Amino acid sequence: MGRLSVLSVTDTKPVTGAYFILTPVCVAFLYLGYRRLLPRPIPGIPYNESATHSLFGDIPEMMNYMARTEEVWPWIADQVTKHQSPIVQVFARPFARPWVIISDHRESCDVLLRRTKEFDRSNFTADVFTGLVPDMHISFKSTEEQFKLHRNLLKDLMTPAFLHAVTGPQIYANTETFVKLWDFKTQVAQGHAFEASEDIYNVALDVIFAAAFGLEIQDSNTFAQLQQLSSAKNLDRPQSLSDPMPFPQFHRPATFEAIATLTESLEVSIKAPFPRFAHWVLRQLPYMRKARAAKEKLFSDMVEESLSKLSSGTKVKRSALDDILQRETAAAKKENRSPVYHSRAIYDELFGFLIGGHDTTSTTLTWTVKYLTGAQSVQTILRSRLRSAYAAATAEQRNPTMEEIIKIPIPYLDATIEEMNRTAQLFNGSIRTTTVDTTLLGYNIPKGTDVFFMQNGPGYLSPPLPVDDSTRSASSLNAKNQAGQWTPDEEDMKTFRPERWLVQNSEAGKEVFDAQAGPHLAFGLGPRACFGRRMAYLQMRIILVMMLWNFELRKTPAKVSSSAAANKLARHPRMCYVRLEKAKF
Ligand code: HEM
Ligand SMILES: *[C@@H]1O[C@H](CO)[C@@H](O)[C@H](O)[C@H]1NC(C)=O
Ligand SMILES: *[C@@H]1O[C@H](CO)[C@@H](O)[C@H](O)[C@H]1NC(C)=O
Ligand SMILES: *[C@@H]1O[C@H](CO)[C@@H](O)[C@H](O)[C@H]1NC(C)=O
Ligand SMILES: *[C@@H]1O[C@H](CO)[C@@H](O)[C@H](O)[C@H]1NC(C)=O
Repeated sequence: MGRLSVLSVTDTKPVTGAYFILTPVCVAFLYLGYRRLLPRPIPGIPYNESATHSLFGDIPEMMNYMARTEEVWPWIADQVTKHQSPIVQVFARPFARPWVIISDHRESCDVLLRRTKEFDRSNFTADVFTGLVPDMHISFKSTEEQFKLHRNLLKDLMTPAFLHAVTGPQIYANTETFVKLWDFKTQVAQGHAFEASEDIYNVALDVIFAAAFGLEIQDSNTFAQLQQLSSAKNLDRPQSLSDPMPFPQFHRPATFEAIATLTESLEVSIKAPFPRFAHWVLRQLPYMRKARAAKEKLFSDMVEESLSKLSSGTKVKRSALDDILQRETAAAKKENRSPVYHSRAIYDELFGFLIGGHDTTSTTLTWTVKYLTGAQSVQTILRSRLRSAYAAATAEQRNPTMEEIIKIPIPYLDATIEEMNRTAQLFNGSIRTTTVDTTLLGYNIPKGTDVFFMQNGPGYLSPPLPVDDSTRSASSLNAKNQAGQWTPDEEDMKTFRPERWLVQNSEAGKEVFDAQAGPHLAFGLGPRACFGRRMAYLQMRIILVMMLWNFELRKTPAKVSSSAAANKLARHPRMCYVRLEKAKF
C-alpha cells in the first residue's frame, strides 16, 4: 500500500496533494476496519492471545485439529483444560462474537434448568439444521409461537401410554429380527469375530422407521439382510480364528438409504465455519438432490397411506405419523380451519423424528457393544440380574416379553443405561444463546452470545476445576448439592462402570439406582432438553436386554479390536467387531 502510493505521487502530478492527504487516511481507515474485524474478546474470560491477531481467530487451529482427528468438540474441551478455567472463550466464526465455553456442572444446571429466560436455543442449532429441516422445532426459540404449535403436533409421542402401546411393540418386533440375524451369523461364524456396527445401524434405522410409519417387519432392513444372507452361497470362514468372518452387507432399500444419506450430511454443517453455506453447496450435488426427492416422495406416500387408514375407521394407531395427523385434525377443528396434512411443518417434524432417533441410538449402542466387550464382568453381572429378574422367561427358556422388559425394575440395568448415556458422549454439550446481557461465573456476557455447556472435559471426564462460590448466581447457590460428584480420579471418570450409579440402601440391604449420583448432560437439561429421551430410553432398554439375553460378547482378537477399530470409532463408530456365543440359560 505504502509503496504503491509513493509511485503514484511521482507519476500523477496534478493530484499529488490529494494523495498526500488521502493515502494515510485510507490506510488508517483500512487499518481501523481490519482492527474492527479482528476477534474481540469478552473482557476477563481467558482466550488464546495469538488468535486475536488474525481475522480467522481460532479457526486455523480448529481446522488443523479436525484434519487430524475428524472431531471438533474435544478441541473445545481442551481449551478449558489448557487455560485451567471452567469458563473460556474461542473465536470460531469469522467476524462474529466469540463462543463462551463452560465446563462446570453446577453452572450448566443453573442455566439450563433455571435461567431459561436469559438463555434460549442458539442460532448455531438453526445454522446446522436449517439446510435439512428448516421447519423443525429444534431451531425455534422457546418464545416463538411456532415452537408451541409444533410441539403440540408431537404432544403424545413421548407419553408412557403411547410409548407402551405403539412404539414399544414396533421396537420389540424389530429387535427380535435383529436377534435372529445375529443368531444366524453366530452359527455361521463359529467363533470368528464379525463386523457389528452396520447391523446396529440397520436395526436402529428399522426401529425409528417403524416408530414413525408403522412398517411391517417384512419391510425392514434387518429382515432383508437376514433373507439375503441365508440364501447367500459362499460364506467361507477364514482359516485363522484371529481373522474376522467377512459377511457381505447388502444394499439398504432405497428409502432407508436416502434418509441415511441426508442425515449424514449434517456432519458437514456441524463442522464447517460457515455451516449454512457449506450445507447449501452440498445440497446442490446430484446425490443429495436425489436423496431429498426420495425422502419427499416417501413422506407424501406415507401421509396418504396413513390418512386412508385413519379414514377407513380403524381405531388402532400404528405410528407416530398416525398420531401427528390426528393432532393436526384436532388443531384445525379448534382453530376453525381445514387441516393441512402435506405441510412443511409435518414433513420436517417427521424428518426431525427420524434424524433425532436414528444416529443417536445407533451410535450409543455401538459404543455400548465396544464397552461391554471390554468389560466382561459388567456383562456377566447384568446378564445374571436379567436372568433372575425375568424368572419366568428364564424358566421357560424364552425371550422376556416387552411388558416384562418395561415393567420389571432392575437397578443394574438402569445403571448400565445411564452409563451408556454418560460415556457415549454423542453430544459433547448443550448450546444456548444469551437473550439479554447477563453473567456467567462472575463475568459479564453480552446479549446474543453463544454459550457451550460441555460435558466432555473437567467435571465430567476429568477432575473439576475450582470455582469461587461468590461468582455463582443466587439460584445456583440455593440449589447447592443437587447432583453428586464423581471421585476426582481421571482414570475412573473415564471408565465404563455402571456401579457408579448404584447406592446401597442399608435398610433394605438392596442396591438402588440413583440418577443424581453424579454429573452428565447426555440429553441436555430443562425445557429444551432432548425431546426424545423417553423413547431413546425404551429403545436402549429393549435392544440391550435382548442382546445380552441372547449373546455373550466375547473379547475380540487384537487384530480387529485395535487398529481398524480405534481410529474409526469417532462420530460414526462404523468399525466395531463382535465375537458372539449364544448365551446359555
Ligand atoms: C441416545 C439417544 C439420544 C441422545 C443422546 C440425544 C441427545 C440430545 C441432546 C443433547 C439434545 C439437545 C439438548 C439441549 O440443547 O439441552 C437433543 C435435542 C433433541 N432431541 Fe435428542 N437425543 C437422543 C435421541 C432422540 C430421539 C430418539 C429423538 C426423537 C425421536 C430425539 C429428538 C430430539 C429433539 C426433537 C430435540 C430438540 C428439542 C428442542 O429443541 O426442544 N432425540 N437430543
Ligand atoms: C494459540 O494459538 C496458536 C496458533 O493460533 C497455537 O500455536 C497455540 O498452541 C495456541 N495456544 C494455546 C495455549 O492453545
Ligand atoms: C466427545 O468428547 C470426547 C472427549 O473429549 C471424545 O472422545 C468424543 O469423541 C467426543 N464426541 C463427539 C461426538 O465429538
Ligand atoms: C439469530 O438469528 C436471528 C434470525 O435469523 C437473527 O435475527 C439474530 O440476529 C441472530 N442472532 C445472532 C446472535 O446472530
Ligand atoms: C439417561 O438416559 C435415560 C435414557 O436413555 C434417560 O431416561 C435419563 O434421563 C438419562 N439421564 C440423564 C441424566 O440425562
